[in-house]
Amino acid sequence: MTQASNGPTVPPTEEELSRARLRLAVEGPVARITISRPERRNAMTGRTWTTLAHIGQTLPEDVRIVVISGEGDTFSAGIDLGMFSPEGVDGERSMVAGLADGTSTDAEVQDYIAGLQEGFLWLRRPDLVTVAAVRGHAIGAGFQLALSCDIRVLADDAQLCMKEPALGLVPDLTGTKPLVDIVGVNRAVEICLTARRVGAREAERLGLAELVVAPDELSGAVDDAVAALLATDREAATATKALLQQAAGNTLQQQAEAERGAQAGRLAALARGAAGH
Ligand code: CAA
Repeated sequence: MTQASNGPTVPPTEEELSRARLRLAVEGPVARITISRPERRNAMTGRTWTTLAHIGQTLPEDVRIVVISGEGDTFSAGIDLGMFSPEGVDGERSMVAGLADGTSTDAEVQDYIAGLQEGFLWLRRPDLVTVAAVRGHAIGAGFQLALSCDIRVLADDAQLCMKEPALGLVPDLTGTKPLVDIVGVNRAVEICLTARRVGAREAERLGLAELVVAPDELSGAVDDAVAALLATDREAATATKALLQQAAGNTLQQQAEAERGAQAGRLAALARGAAGH
């Protein structure tokens, strides 16, 4: 999940971003990614996610914070439903390409999905803090994208919905683990298998939103969060996120060991800094 050694080395061009319905603005330590297709409620295609992966692989090294939002008053209506038609969207490979006539194997489909999942996985990198700024609907892949971020700031009109089971599908864009980690298996089953909409206030109660604000306060609230995140030491922030990420899978003893290992590294770095080398 860190910078891939054999991946692209230059960021996507403006044309590539535009074909993927994305905008990217990097200013010093902050990268802002906007899903930009408001006329289709920011519906996304496979290209959106492979381009997201490309963005992650080529972020400048000094970027510490990534903010993801949707243009207009919707975060994202999820996958472009045209992706399930045999012809796909704008000539892009369809999700069901070759499945009806058996020319695509199960392994090929899984490889294809693995490539799409890369667009979501990098958002967990410990050297980054990722923030989803959610207005309106975050459906299916849109909800999973928000779940891939460390922090979700919701406008009070936000509605989260795991629509996939209602469409005969499963959530496969890396959203099931964070959902279960946050709300537990039982609530996750209820949310996914009813495909109901979870409003912003309920999301806050369930831990799916770190903050809920009025829609016109969303960008200011995100800016405040970004400023607070930037005020911490970068190396300490990276080490702390890595620690927190492993806590759930560790025993108390394993976590205590990980804490002292990380702290020894931090203390050595601080001592070297104080000694001027
Ligand atoms: N794909 C393609 N087009 C979409 C779209 C989508 N997911 N969502 C909205 N649009 C289009 C509509 O077709 C409509 O186009 P036209 O103007 O040409 O008619 C336009 O965007 C505006 O949509 P609405 O008029 O429906 O807008 P609304 O504000 O009334 O409703 C909405 C918004 C609740 C998001 C509604 O559009 C909706 O329910 N969309 C479908 C959501 C969906 O089922 N997404 C797939 C989830 S599954 C997934 O993402 C992951 C996976 O892999 C399976």
